[in-house]
Amino acid sequence: MSSIDSKSLRNTLGAFTTGVTVITTVDAEGRRFGVTANSFSSVSLDPPLVLWSQSTTSRSHPAFRDTGRFVVNILAVDQIAVSDRFARSGDDKFVGVDIDEGLDGLPIIRGAAAFLECRKVATYPGGDHVVFLGHVENMFRGERPPLAFRDGRYLTHLAHALAEV
Ligand SMILES: Cc1cc2nc3c(=O)[nH]c(=O)nc-3n(C[C@H](O)[C@H](O)[C@H](O)COP(=O)(O)O)c2cc1C
Repeated sequence: MSSIDSKSLRNTLGAFTTGVTVITTVDAEGRRFGVTANSFSSVSLDPPLVLWSQSTTSRSHPAFRDTGRFVVNILAVDQIAVSDRFARSGDDKFVGVDIDEGLDGLPIIRGAAAFLECRKVATYPGGDHVVFLGHVENMFRGERPPLAFRDGRYLTHLAHALAEV
């Protein structure tokens, strides 16, 4: 039995400021799936690899487990509503969301700060989550500043006063 309780762990991890992504995919029937995730991380530049992790109890988990591709949409600072929408389980997540179609018809969320189209190259068990490793095949970086997240709250991303310009 672990001496680490989940509430304290969540509280401690909350000190780590992250961006906010929505990871999207489609299944074999063409149904779209999307989930808000801040577990996204860069892994390797050469080859270009990224990862994210998903709770095995998520409704969309079977779709992400079975897909060969996913898109990491890095949300812009004005996309809190998009983050909230994809953080709730439901069938209608894409209704009213402006999307473009990327490789293999995967949904790309319009207005994001950046996106990375990935081929899934590995899946690792991670306790109550699974870790998906993606090989980046296409990407885009726009001009919009990213949304940030810490201690369960959305933040704007501002340069530190002591940072060199
Ligand atoms: C800022 C934020 C970050 C999140 N990060 C993750 C994550 O990295 N992995 C995960 O499985 N769920 C994460 N969640 C929770 C999922 O978005 C949420 O459980 C969602 O309802 C899952 O959708 P689904 O049940 O349709 O699969 C996050 C939620 C928020 C608000």
